[in-house]
Amino acid sequence: MRRAVFPGSFDPLTNGHLDIIKRSAPLFDEIVIAVLNNPDKKPMFTVEERCALIREILPVVPNGGCRLVVDSFSGLTADFARKKEATAIVRGIRAVADYEYELRMALMNRRLEPEIETVFLIAAEEFSYVSSSLMKQVFTLGGRIEGLVPAIVEAKMREKLKN
Ligand code: PNS
Repeated sequence: MRRAVFPGSFDPLTNGHLDIIKRSAPLFDEIVIAVLNNPDKKPMFTVEERCALIREILPVVPNGGCRLVVDSFSGLTADFARKKEATAIVRGIRAVADYEYELRMALMNRRLEPEIETVFLIAAEEFSYVSSSLMKQVFTLGGRIEGLVPAIVEAKMREKLKN
């Protein structure tokens, strides 16, 4: 059983995240999309809302037979991955700018859990500039983000802005 953990803030899930999920699915039997509960950050969506949104979207994602599950966690990614008996941590790389941060995380996670390998996947070029924070900023300021986040995510962002 090859299980991977794909950790992130997912505030909110973007089409870039979905691209990484689609690319990693053929490599594993199960991928746990792990939403970080970070009390230090003020997110747009609660952890529960983020998990619910991802669960709503996953059924239409081509999974190539890979089981896609959603979970949330607090604390260290390495601890969560070990508890889940994962053999890999999946992370997406969009551009060179991501590399340094991701390298530091991968090396630290390897030090914490030497048996768990970080697997980097290269996101599609069309999503190379897409991040959750940029999506939130542009949308909040009235810009269009259609095609960059799933339609359900955009609708929920619109609801958030109204409240
Ligand atoms: O989507 P993000 O915000 O880029 O994801 C970052 C994330 C959640 C993968 C990273 O912040 C993380 O692993 N946080 C959990 C705490 C932890 O393990 N820190 C040490 C990383 S070496």
